Amino acid sequence: MTDRRPTPQPATEGRPRFRDAPTQDYGNPDANPYLISHRSFGRPLLTADEAWRWRGRWDEELGQAGDLHVELGSGNGFFLAELARRNPDALVLGIEIRFKRCVLCARKIQAAGVHNARILRYHAAFLDDLFEDGALAALYVNHPDPWPKERHEKNRLISRWFLEDVVRLLRPGGVFRLKSDHLPNIERAVELIDHDPEGGPAPRLPLEVTGRAEDVTRGPAPWPDDIETNYQRKFRERGLPVYALELRRTADAG
Ligand SMILES: C[S@@+](CC[C@H](N)C(=O)[O-])C[C@H]1O[C@@H](n2cnc3c(N)ncnc32)[C@H](O)[C@@H]1O
Repeated sequence: MTDRRPTPQPATEGRPRFRDAPTQDYGNPDANPYLISHRSFGRPLLTADEAWRWRGRWDEELGQAGDLHVELGSGNGFFLAELARRNPDALVLGIEIRFKRCVLCARKIQAAGVHNARILRYHAAFLDDLFEDGALAALYVNHPDPWPKERHEKNRLISRWFLEDVVRLLRPGGVFRLKSDHLPNIERAVELIDHDPEGGPAPRLPLEVTGRAEDVTRGPAPWPDDIETNYQRKFRERGLPVYALELRRTADAG
């Protein structure tokens, strides 16, 4: 079993590892219509080619200083817009890879009337392009695609390389909050703190489990003021559990 970071576009000096579609795709009449509309949307949506330029300067882009809260895989943007509404002093950034969902998120942000949020079209495996080490106060992943088949393992976000990113990006005391309908995602996140992808021992990452809940659709989340996501609502309505985990970045290296 291996897990490894996807490399769709190799890093080159001074350039990000994830880039917009080639310019010729924009003139293709058969192209995804949201490819075009995501590009012309403007704020609060940033294309891949725009997003990385704000690395280390998100306070300038948002027009205010504040803690950085980042959600990966924002989907339709309900969680993102509500997070921004409840935390007006925070800078709230969503990262979403699909063109249509970026547009839906941008519309949700506009409809919520918040000015402290942006949706960035980007790939969750290349967060270093967007954020400096220790920049984040909180990182949220809600219902990551589970990819349960072994042959799809390379697509899974919850992996050792991703937890290493979490450690690097969170400031000490910062939190990583994961909700999933797929229990192995939660178990894997805990196990990979001190195991390699093959299950062998690995150097312990500076993360501690600070909260865990077996079903946030029937009981409380392990943090105050939980925001129900679109997928979470669907699972609740079907009577299925949603698991939750909070990891806190500790100050020491082990
Ligand atoms: C199952 S949906 C969950 C949506 C939302 N978080 C919710 O709970 O309702 C997973 C989302 O992650 C996005 N996604 C998948 N892989 C991604 C990646 N590598 N980078 C950014 N977003 C990704 C998908 O496009 C999709 O919107």
